[in-house]
Order: sequence, then C-alpha cells, then structure tokens
Amino acid sequence: MTDLERVKTGIPGLDSIISGGIPRDNLVVISGDPGSGKTILCMEFIYEGVTKFNEPGVFVSLEESKEEIIKIADLFGWDFETLIKEKKIEIVTIDLYDFDQLKDIIEDTISRVKAKRIVIDPGVIFRLYFSKELEARKKILELGRMLKESGCTSIITNESSSNTNDLFGLEEYVADGVIIMFHKRIKEKFERSIAVIKMRGTKISEKTHPLVITKSGLDVLSKQEMYG
Ligand SMILES: Nc1ncnc2c1ncn2[C@@H]1O[C@H](COP(=O)(O)OP(=O)(O)O)[C@@H](O)[C@H]1O
Ligand SMILES: [Mg+2]
Repeated sequence: MTDLERVKTGIPGLDSIISGGIPRDNLVVISGDPGSGKTILCMEFIYEGVTKFNEPGVFVSLEESKEEIIKIADLFGWDFETLIKEKKIEIVTIDLYDFDQLKDIIEDTISRVKAKRIVIDPGVIFRLYFSKELEARKKILELGRMLKESGCTSIITNESSSNTNDLFGLEEYVADGVIIMFHKRIKEKFERSIAVIKMRGTKISEKTHPLVITKSGLDVLSKQEMYG
C-alpha cells in the first residue's frame, strides 16, 4: 500500500495528527475563533516550507498589511523580509475589492515565485466582495478549484465566531481538509486548542489537542487531549 505524497506543515505536533502532513496539492480550510492562532499558523506554514523544504510560498493577506505580516513574523524569528528579497516568499495584499482581479493576481504570483504553498488569510473577507449570495458562492468555489489545480498546497482561513461564518460551502464541497482552532474560556482563563475535522485520504486524530503559542511559533500538544 502506498501513501499519498505529503507536505509537512513543519508546525510541531501538527503533522503527527494528520499522518505526516497535508496531501500534496490539497486545499485545507482552517476555521477558528479570533486569536486562536490562524494567522500565525499561516506564517509558519509558509516559513517552514521555504526554509526546510525549499518550497516557495505566497501569503495573501486580506487583513494585515505587508508591513504588519513582516513585523509579526519577525517576532517569531521568521525573517520574511530577506526571503521576500530572495523571491522565495511573496506577500499579496489588495485594497480594491475586485474579486476577479484578485484571482488573476494570485495566479500570476504563484507562477512568478513558482510557489508550492499558498495561504489566503482570512478568506472570509471574500464575503465583502459580493452583494449577491449566489455570485459569492460561485466565485469562491471557483477560487477553491483554481487553488487545487495551481500546483500549490493551500490553506484558506475562516473566522468561525463571526455571524457571517461560512465560506459558502467551500469546506463541504471543495476543500480536501478542514481544521478547527479554538480560543475558549475554560474555567477562569482562555485556552487554545485544535482539531482536525477532515483530511482526504488521511488517518486523523479524533481528539481535540491543546495548542500553545511560544516565542518560536505554534506547538500542538499531540500527545495530550483537551477534554481527556
Ligand atoms: N509570542 C507569543 N506568545 C504567546 N502568545 C502570542 C505570542 N505572539 C502572539 N500571541 C498570541 O497570538 C494571538 C494572535 O494569533 P493570530 O494568529 O493572529 O490569531 P487569529 O489569526 O486566529 O485571529 C494574539 O492575540 C496573541 O495573544
Ligand atoms: Mg488572523
């Protein structure tokens, strides 16, 4: 029996709960509470890809500016600035809410940096591009399919606690994997955790695992259970 080719996220503890990594070229949606670590996860996925696996990456940031992403990454010791100069990472931001243009820019950027990894954070901002629900649904599914054919392993994030909290069926119909990140009050303090809901062709941990953010990034406590 052969296993699928897998892309290691490089995030400590995460790969071991998804049988070694995300199947190559798959699209994963990460839904999570505010402050649960979605943006940091995206940065780490891109940084690890470039530095450990020689896979160039594209970071589509729809919330933070390029400068903010560089500054936050730097706090974890991830030197995005140098990697951008070396053309191994490109950060894409767009202030004009033009979906078709964004799609073209993403495609061009992927081919320019020969990207093997891409993140779109937070994907849920796409909702703002459309006034009509049906059009939004069509376009977002189209973007998801484009990413799956792009030669990249992709992550799109989603804010799970907003009241506009879905990506129009992207999770159910197009995404190969779904991960949920929690930031919830347990007794007197807020705690972070992570659970893998689905990952095509992959044996996954059925548990919710604690997640901590340290000065070197995320750490999924794969041997511990949140509600065990
Ligand atoms: N070095 C650090 N140590 C512990 N927590 C941190 C550190 N740096 C950032 N954080 C926490 O991470 C949170 C942000 O995570 P982020 O990935 O932006 O969340 P999300 O994108 O899910 O809203 C911050 O609110 C902060 O509390
Ligand atoms: Mg974020």
